[in-house]
Amino acid sequence: MAARVPVAVLISGRGSNMAALIEAAAGPDYPARIALVLANVADAPGLAIAAAAGVPTMAIPHRDFGRDRAAHERALHAVLTGAGVALVCLAGYMRLLTPVLVGAWAGRMINIHPSLLPAFPGLDTHARALAAGVKLHGCTVHRVTEVMDQGPILAQAAVPVLPGDTEDALAARVLAAEHRLYPAALAALARGEAGQPAPAGAILANPLPPGGDGD
Ligand code: GAR
Repeated sequence: MAARVPVAVLISGRGSNMAALIEAAAGPDYPARIALVLANVADAPGLAIAAAAGVPTMAIPHRDFGRDRAAHERALHAVLTGAGVALVCLAGYMRLLTPVLVGAWAGRMINIHPSLLPAFPGLDTHARALAAGVKLHGCTVHRVTEVMDQGPILAQAAVPVLPGDTEDALAARVLAAEHRLYPAALAALARGEAGQPAPAGAILANPLPPGGDGD
């Protein structure tokens, strides 16, 4: 098998998507390895999960840099470069990025977002999906560009919105889909199967098996 692509995962909190990526990368045929987990919050719970899995971790708290977002991102970039990673996965990294980091990693940084983009960019996606009355909701893996939640779409998974759904129930259904979608999308990218960027809004690939779109 070809050398695995070294990947950094950026987190801010719980890190369940990060954990899904680490678990997938432990598989013998997975084309990427998680070389580093980096957080912008010193006590992000995901850091302990990564460390327990034997993955190197580091926190670079944005608070240490005051209002200087660019300086924080230069520090992140230096660590990412030093770790020799080829791809960066944002996984619940809840910090708006500036052109400093986005530009440095253009084409090599992806994100998972809990909606079927371009619907419901931003926060509170599940509450907004319920309020809008949509019957399908889901998650999207996309390339990161300077416009939040608008980079070219690499993969999406849909889940049904069921009668009587609460925000928590819907969030849990989407999260289960995220945990399958993100490892599959990263694997496709690492194998060079993700193809050229598509216009935002296109569904390029859904690597989930038929019927595997909800729990
Ligand atoms: C996930 O649902 C992820 O899609 C979302 O935050 C959650 C992080 O959970 N990301 C965004 O909303 C980014 N716009 P996790 O820390 O357990 O992976």
